[in-house]
Amino acid sequence: MKAQNDEINYKPGLVGRFARIIIPVLQNFLTPSLFKRVYDNLYWLNKRRIWLSYSLATKTTALFKDDEVKTKQAFTRKLLPYTMGGWKALENAFDVVSLVEKNSVPGIIVECGVAEGGTAAMMALTSRTLGEESRDCWFFDSYEGLPEPTVEDYQGAKAGEYVQPLAEGSCLGTIEQVSELLFDKLQLPKSKITLVKGWFQDTVPLHKDKLGNIAVLRLDGDWYESTKIPLENFYPNISPGGCVIIDDYATCFGSKKATDEFIENNKIDTFLRPDGRGGAWFVKPTQSQN
Ligand SMILES: C[S@@+](CC[C@H](N)C(=O)[O-])C[C@H]1O[C@@H](n2cnc3c(N)ncnc32)[C@H](O)[C@@H]1O
Repeated sequence: MKAQNDEINYKPGLVGRFARIIIPVLQNFLTPSLFKRVYDNLYWLNKRRIWLSYSLATKTTALFKDDEVKTKQAFTRKLLPYTMGGWKALENAFDVVSLVEKNSVPGIIVECGVAEGGTAAMMALTSRTLGEESRDCWFFDSYEGLPEPTVEDYQGAKAGEYVQPLAEGSCLGTIEQVSELLFDKLQLPKSKITLVKGWFQDTVPLHKDKLGNIAVLRLDGDWYESTKIPLENFYPNISPGGCVIIDDYATCFGSKKATDEFIENNKIDTFLRPDGRGGAWFVKPTQSQN
């Protein structure tokens, strides 16, 4: 591996750094139920702030952008309320799908870790808009939130660079919420999108022979096992020139560990590229042993 992964790190902005100070203080002084109410409201306010500043920045400069950038930014504005990844994760999902469309890489789009569906919807919308024909999409999730991390996820007492530890059941998006976004709000075709509900440990190995070629594999399951299982099962299906996105590379220790081990053990001759917020992606080399 030509490792460029030292560049892929997570640097919280001013608000993120402030939150890391103020949230533990609030947690110490408030009752658990009051803290949850305050935390949820602050989280919502911050999402709103991000949406407003992104909308302002992109709309005021739209005149100077080409059509593809305008489309990417319009999709990002529409989908920001449905993602935990923020605008850089959405724009990266658009760019990676755009790349496989331009290079006519054969295969479907797969995401493991969908939550409320923001990045999944971005990939489906992008393929429908830029591709000759929209690709089939398979979106895997428990649709019950995160499982517990395992020992492989921890460095000391922490499993990642969070303001708050991610408890079992957090990052929840239900299958009803995701269906509503994809099929009702965005009117994407039901015949092209399959939502697979269950733990990756059960669902992913069952599907590896069913899916055929994959053009984009987006991994957003946070933990070691949730990254390792889809990599091991689905990587052989990825077409040469296809892409793998690891959303949590620099933010979840187990996700980085699973990715580095996989690339190293399989001697994959590629390099990781940053998405600008701690996520990483790579292209499957054309001469691949796997
Ligand atoms: C950070 S969220 C995904 C964020 C999403 N891509 C977005 O745009 O906001 C992580 C998701 O992975 C799912 N997940 C993690 N590990 C899993 C596993 N082993 N099996 C099934 N789902 C899992 C959780 O249910 C959760 O919805």
